Amino acid sequence: MIKFQINDQEVSAQPGWTVLETAREHNIHIPTLCYHEAVEPSGACRLCVVELKEGDWSKVVISCMYPVEEGLQVYTDSDKVKNVRRWILEMLLAQCPASVEIQALAAQYGVSGTRFEVHDADEQCILCGLCTRVCQQVVGADAISTVGRGVHKKIGAPYMEPSSACVACGSCVTVCPTGAMRQRLDSVRGVPKVNLAVNAR
Ligand code: SF4
Ligand code: FES
Repeated sequence: MIKFQINDQEVSAQPGWTVLETAREHNIHIPTLCYHEAVEPSGACRLCVVELKEGDWSKVVISCMYPVEEGLQVYTDSDKVKNVRRWILEMLLAQCPASVEIQALAAQYGVSGTRFEVHDADEQCILCGLCTRVCQQVVGADAISTVGRGVHKKIGAPYMEPSSACVACGSCVTVCPTGAMRQRLDSVRGVPKVNLAVNAR
């Protein structure tokens, strides 16, 4: 076992675990958006930042991808961490201003607005890619991916057309941390056909 400290509490981890996995094992909360234990981490949202300290030296890293090491000193809620998280939340608010989930999370950190440019006031997606990883790595359907470039990037099926690869399992909706996939599922699977003969009765 590897031993180190989180918030001055001694913790132990299996070799190969990340700081986030160890924190969760010890019921220490670190906020996440793009992480799910069923798929490979991608480091997309950066909300899971923590501070590593050694004497006067310190650095901020993303805990979902940082491998544990003997003797680490990790802080999950230091002033530095809270500042970085506020900055990340401001960027996320600019990226998906319509997401109620992101607004609520930002409010928890005292962030109610953003200084960054908003491109689409109706956007809810943070492009974290969790939905695509679950669709590919867990469901095996590989029905959705990132489509387009730059500010036009979206999550959807190829050419943003309904895809026959979609099995309509709803896993993408379940894991989406912002509520964006709730609105998009019909554009991926196609709108379910209504049985007109039954409805006409
Ligand atoms: S739809 Fe949801 S899960 Fe998929 S990339 Fe956007 S925010 Fe992430
Ligand atoms: S949860 Fe670690 S980067 Fe998103």
